[in-house]
Amino acid sequence: MSNSLDRKQEAWSARFNEPVSEIVKRYTASVGFDQRLADADIKASLAHAQMLSERGIITNADFNAIVEGMARIRAEIDHGAFVWSIDLEDVHLNIERRLTQLVGDAGKRLHTARSRNDQVATDIRLWLRSEIDEQLKLLRQLQKALLDQAGRHEQTVMPGFTHLQVAQPISFAHHLLAYVEMFSRDESRLCDLRRRVNRLPLGAAALPGTSFPIDRERVAALLDFEGLCENSLDAVSDRDFAIEYCAAASLIAVHFSRLSEELVLWMSPNIAFIDLPDRFCTGSSIMPQKKNPDVPELARGKTGRVVGHLMGLLMLMKAQPLAYNKDNQEDKEPLFDTVDTITDSLRIYIDLIAGIMVREERMREAAGRGYATATDLADYLVRKGMAFRDAHEAVALAVREADREGIDLSALSLERLKEFSNLIEDDVYQVLSLEGSLAARNHVGGTAPAAVLAAIARHQKRLA
Ligand code: ARG
Repeated sequence: MSNSLDRKQEAWSARFNEPVSEIVKRYTASVGFDQRLADADIKASLAHAQMLSERGIITNADFNAIVEGMARIRAEIDHGAFVWSIDLEDVHLNIERRLTQLVGDAGKRLHTARSRNDQVATDIRLWLRSEIDEQLKLLRQLQKALLDQAGRHEQTVMPGFTHLQVAQPISFAHHLLAYVEMFSRDESRLCDLRRRVNRLPLGAAALPGTSFPIDRERVAALLDFEGLCENSLDAVSDRDFAIEYCAAASLIAVHFSRLSEELVLWMSPNIAFIDLPDRFCTGSSIMPQKKNPDVPELARGKTGRVVGHLMGLLMLMKAQPLAYNKDNQEDKEPLFDTVDTITDSLRIYIDLIAGIMVREERMREAAGRGYATATDLADYLVRKGMAFRDAHEAVALAVREADREGIDLSALSLERLKEFSNLIEDDVYQVLSLEGSLAARNHVGGTAPAAVLAAIARHQKRLA
C-alpha cells in the first residue's frame, strides 16, 4: 500500500490533487463485498475483449494477452493468492490493475468502449442469473422432497384448521401438497424474471453509448444473454431486475415462514404431530428436557431480513435521477444476502422435509376431537333432501348435545341422532368417520386419497 496514492489516482485520472481520506476510502470502497462478482467480471471482460478484437478496436495480440492474464488472475483468485486492495475501490479496478501488471498495455486497452457503469450492471446480471439457476434446481428438489413425504401419507388423517380451530379432516399429504403449489409458483416466478435479468447492459459505456464501432449483439451471444438493454441510460441505471428478484425471494421466504410456523406448532409437545431429527434442533442450556426447532424458527425469522432487503432496494431506487449514481453500489449487499439466505433455506429444507417424522396416531386423535366431521353430517342431510341452512342448524344442535357429554358425534346412538332429523339412517356412521370424510372429497384439489395420489402423480410428471 506504500504507493497506494499513485495506484489509486491512476485508476481514473491525474485530475485529483489529494488522496481521499482513509475513512472516505472505506466508505466508498465496495471490494470487501463485490469480490464475489469476480468470476462474472472476468467472463464479461473476456467477451468484451473478444468483440473489441473482432471489430479491430484492439489487436488480436492484445486480446490473447488479456485471455492469458485473466487465466492467471482466475487461478490466483481460486487459490486465495489474489491480493485485493481497498485502494482500488472495487472488484473491477482490482482485476483491471492486476491484468495490467501481468500483461502491460493490453490490460490498459481492455477498458476501451466500456465504463464501470455498464460493467457492474453486466456483472450483477451474470452473477444473479447463475444464482437463479441454482435456486431453480433447489426449488425443484424441495418440491420433490415434499412429494416424497406426501407419498407416504395420503391416508394419514389430521385435522385441517381454519382460524387455527379444528375445521375438517384432511390428509397430511394434502397439507404438504399446498406447499408444493406455493413453491411451484415460486419456481415459475423465478423462470419468468430470469428473462428480464438476462439482458446485456455492456455497450452503454458510462451512459450514452460509445463512439467505437462495437457489436453489442456479439457480446450478448458470447455471454448467453437473451437480448440487449436497449436504452443506454436505462442499461446503466436500472436495478429493477434485482428488485424483482428480491420480490420473488420475499415470497419464497414468506412460504418458508408459513411452513416453519406450522412445523414449530406441530413439534410443540402439546400438539406433537411430528418430530424433527436432532440435527435440526438444539437443546436448552438450563431446561434439560427441551428440544427446540431452531431451524424452522430461524427460517421464520430470516423472512424479516429478506423482505427488509426488498424494501431497502426499492428505497435505494426511488429518487435516483438518471443515469448511474453511486447509490447503486448499495444494491449489492442486500441482493447478496437475499440470495444467500434463500439458497441456504432451500438446501436445509430439502433435507429437513425428508426428515420429518410423522406421529400418525397423534394426528388422528386430534382429528377425532373437535367435531371435524360435522360438515359431513350436514352434507349428508342435504343429500337426503334438507336445505343446507336447516341441515347446518340441525347439526349444530347435535354438536351441542355431544359436546355436553364430551363425546364425538359418531358416539351418539342412531336413536339419539334421529332426534335432530329423522332423515338420519344407519349409513350415517360411514359419513361421520374420518376416512369417509376424506374419501368423499374426491375431485381435483380435494383431500380424498385418490385425488391426492393423482395430484402427486401430476407434480411428479412436471418435475421429472
Ligand atoms: N463499484 C461501483 C458499483 O458497484 C462500480 C461502478 C462505479 N462507477 C462509477 N462511476 N463510480 O456501482
